[in-house]
Amino acid sequence: MGAEQVRDGFVELYGARPDGVWAAPGRVNLIGEHTDYNDGFVMPFALPHTAVAAVSRRTDGVLRLHSADLDTGVAELRLDELAPESDKAWTAYPAGVVWALREAGHPVTGADVHLSSTVPSGAGLSSSAAIEVVVALALNDLFALGLQGWQLARLCQRAENVYVGAPTGIMDQTASACCEDGHALFLDTRDLSQKQIPLDLAAEGLRLLVVDTRVTHAHSGGEYGKRRAGCEKGAALLGVDALRDIAYADLDAALDRLGDDEEIRRLVRHVVTEDQRVEQVVALLESGGDTRAVGPVLTAGHASLRDDFRVSCPELDLVVDTALAHGALGARMTGGGFGGSAIVLAEATDVEALTKAVGEAFAAAGHTSPRVFEAVPSAGARRLV
Ligand code: GLA
Repeated sequence: MGAEQVRDGFVELYGARPDGVWAAPGRVNLIGEHTDYNDGFVMPFALPHTAVAAVSRRTDGVLRLHSADLDTGVAELRLDELAPESDKAWTAYPAGVVWALREAGHPVTGADVHLSSTVPSGAGLSSSAAIEVVVALALNDLFALGLQGWQLARLCQRAENVYVGAPTGIMDQTASACCEDGHALFLDTRDLSQKQIPLDLAAEGLRLLVVDTRVTHAHSGGEYGKRRAGCEKGAALLGVDALRDIAYADLDAALDRLGDDEEIRRLVRHVVTEDQRVEQVVALLESGGDTRAVGPVLTAGHASLRDDFRVSCPELDLVVDTALAHGALGARMTGGGFGGSAIVLAEATDVEALTKAVGEAFAAAGHTSPRVFEAVPSAGARRLV
């Protein structure tokens, strides 16, 4: 839905024009999975799909929330009654942002919000981060809070961790807030230092496809949290603050020290090798060489997520295997896993055959037909009107 439509929807709903309209994108992650809560490296880029919000300021301590995408009417909440983990509906994301801002001492006194999103939900493409960030950015502007993108991202992560109750990292919110058109974001999740890396696949005759398996996932479920706890245990056993502190060159020695705790060894091996893969991809892209060389690194990342970190699923593996068998340069699951989407790096000339092959493989396996689209690095969160 475009800015005008969302603005008109707001007028219809609340009987006045909104103070403004903002957009924040979903993301795909090129490389660096399950590294963000280990203080490691990630490299997402923003999708053209966005959450768009028309918002007006209120001064009476009331928050009204409405989604054009759902049939649930207007939710009316009192700011002084917002409480962590009290809300199991979609409204927990925007309300959590308001809660986090106020809890950090920012003078947010209420708002009317009307939202619509084109980011596929449950597809591992950060639809919830897009909602959080669009609301945070709107309130930042309307209440003149003067916060920067990375600060908004931190507050949105807090909303998700504490208010919603999902123990996720900082990647998705930072990607949505800070990505730039035509670039991937190389982010150090320890200090949130960032580097924009130009990524123009079309100029090299390449495409990056997103294949949404239609297997929905949720990170408030136990498996994500279990991986996170396992990584923290690994870091504690190795005497470091976070697994980021284990250098790739020291991996074998670290694994020896972990003895026969096979599960922790696998988690540690994934995180340490994945950080190394992010650095490899950054070096390849910055060298100005052939981007095709990134392909095998993506595929190695998938193997590690499947075999060591164990967050893939049969549908994601089927996308990767089928794509590789039909000429893809590289392929991997993206996002948290347990469903959601895979990405495929391919020659533009192979896209049609490859897409057909994946569709046929899904049909033959009796899976729901996947949704396939091309991802072009797009702009981060911004004001539209
Ligand atoms: C989800 C989380 C992120 C990150 C990824 C895995 O998308 O929200 O913080 O941990 O999973 O890389």
